[in-house]
Order: sequence, then C-alpha cells, then structure tokens
Amino acid sequence: MTASVTILAIESSCDDTAAAVLRDGVVLSNVVANQLVHEKYGGVVPELASRAHQKNIVPVVDMALKQAQVRLEELNAVAFTCSPGLIGSLLVGTGFAKALALSLNVPLIAVNHMEAHVMAHFIAQPSPQFPFMCLTVSGGHTLIQILHADGHMENIGQTLDDAAGEAFDKCAKLLGLPYPGGPLIDKYAQNGNPNAFAFPVSSVSGFDFSFSGLKTSFLNFLKSRMADNSDFISNHLADICASIQHTIIQQLIIKFEQAATKYGVTHLGIAGGVSANSGLRAAVAQLGVRHGWNTYVPAFEYCTDNAAMIAMAAWHKYRKNEFSDLTITPSAK
Ligand code: KG4
Ligand code: ZN
Repeated sequence: MTASVTILAIESSCDDTAAAVLRDGVVLSNVVANQLVHEKYGGVVPELASRAHQKNIVPVVDMALKQAQVRLEELNAVAFTCSPGLIGSLLVGTGFAKALALSLNVPLIAVNHMEAHVMAHFIAQPSPQFPFMCLTVSGGHTLIQILHADGHMENIGQTLDDAAGEAFDKCAKLLGLPYPGGPLIDKYAQNGNPNAFAFPVSSVSGFDFSFSGLKTSFLNFLKSRMADNSDFISNHLADICASIQHTIIQQLIIKFEQAATKYGVTHLGIAGGVSANSGLRAAVAQLGVRHGWNTYVPAFEYCTDNAAMIAMAAWHKYRKNEFSDLTITPSAK
C-alpha cells in the first residue's frame, strides 16, 4: 500500500488569505479570510492587502490544520500560489510557504493561480473527462483554456482589456455599490428583467474578449438617464443589474460555445470568481442541455479564491515530482 500524501496549500494572490489541507486528493479543510478593508476604496488596495495577509496568514493556516486534524509534522509538502497576482500579496504566501517547507524539510510546490482555478473541477466527483474546456472568469482574468490528458493547458482565448469580473465590479461601482460589486449585481439581477435595457456587445474576432467598451457605454447610459431622472438608478436597480449581467454573460457564452464547437470538446466548465454568478451558471447548464455536452460548475466555495484548488493543483504536481527549490520568486504576471 502506498503511503498517503498530505499537502498544506496557501493562497494569497489578491485580497483573500486562504489555507487548505488535502490528503490523497481529498479536501480535509478549506479556510478563507476575506479582507473587508478594501470595501470602502472601491477596489483592492495592494499595500493594505499585503498587510492584511501578514496579519491573517498564521491564524488561517492554524485553523486549516486544526479543522483537518492534521499536525505540522504530518505534512508531506507545502504548496503556494506563485503567480499571477499582486506582488506584495504573493510575497507573503511565498515567504511563509518557503519557511515552513524548510523547517519541516518537505518539498515546496509552486502553483499558477489560473491553472488552479481549472483544477478546482477535480475536487468533486465525477470530475471532467479530457480534453476539458474551461472558461475561467475572475477579477483579473478571462480565459478559455483546454486541459489535455497529459496535463498540458492550451490557451484558446483571453480578454484584451478588462476581465469579466472587473466589468461586473466597475459597473457596480458606477451604480454606487461597494467592492466587490459582482455578487451584488447578481443579487439585484434576480428580480430584474434582463432585456429591460440593451448595451452594445464588443465584436472582437476569434475567441478573445473585450469588456472595456461596456463600462464606457454603461457610464454614458447612466448619465443620460440620470439627466432626466435623478432617481433612475434606485428606481430601476434590478432591471439595470439584470441587463448588464445578461450582456456580460452573453459575450462569454457566445465565444465559449463557438470555441467548444470548433475544437469538438464535449466536457466544459466554468471557474473563477464570476463562475459563482447565478446567471452564468444557468447559461452554462443550458448550453449543455442544448448540445448534449457535459457541463461542470464548481461548488461556490471553490469558485472564488481558495486554497483547496491550489492544493489540488499541487497534488497533481506532487505525483509528477514537480517541486520548486527555495530560490523561486513569485511573479505578478
Ligand atoms: O477568482 P476571484 O475570487 O479572484 C480573482 O482571482 O480575481 O474573482 C473575484 C471576482 C470579482 O470581480 C467579483 O466581483 C467576482 O469574481 N464575483 C462575481 C460573483 N461572485 C464573485 N461576479 C458576478 N457574480 C457573482 N456572483
Ligand atoms: Zn482567482
């Protein structure tokens, strides 16, 4: 019988401090500390994020070990998010993971945050079959990738400017909603009409995306409506949210559908913070029904940033002996 492998993973790429323990591919604990300090600034303040990671990292790791009922000496590897992200935030997790791996004399595993979002699909069963096409939509990225059976991740398309989550957050900010506004747009959209207002959809060729124009047209739309009625936003919040959400989802789904058709992929999923969006989750499920494709949507706790996905990506690397040495440095890109 092969010995079991227990991995502690740390995620600190943006504004969530997270730690998780995984044993032989099974999540034993998954702890996330959100940083509410950014709310009033309308976006993540990098310096405040690093400071909050420094404050949170020890208690978050302690809690992850406690919930998993795992002692430090039982760990076989320490994994961490190496890129992409805010450099100051990444440095906190990297430094902590290196020190811990060194003191325990166990391997260190560096994980790419975007690959880990895709790997979140392998936490629950049944997991997708290969080739698996994933639309990863977060606050910083919008990517269509194909994960092949040999572990190779092929990039098919990406955003040329703003990420989908950024589009949600920027539109929410224009509505006067606090950061991050994506979940609030989702909430208000539940009671609105998605066809109440029409916004232009970008026409980028291929499988790339563009969301920066939407923010500008949304701003102009609000300005002109507010000129006639200063209470326009509060009177129509649900319809505005439903319409803007519908526009963003349409852009994502059209390209995703075209890409899956072109590459003949029948196992598809969504990942990243925006995959928590109820409208996007429903749209992907409908896509599956329409084409007879297998669609996968992660549990909510594995959509937004978390360390369980870092641990799952690390578990695959562990089995391939893909370890890092202590000279490794994190990278923002
Ligand atoms: O993956 P994530 O937690 O962090 C990054 O790697 O960026 O994604 C955060 C993004 C934010 O833009 C947030 O507004 C968005 O995900 N988000 C949502 C929802 N939940 C989170 N956007 C729309 N609807 C949601 N329910
Ligand atoms: Zn993320």
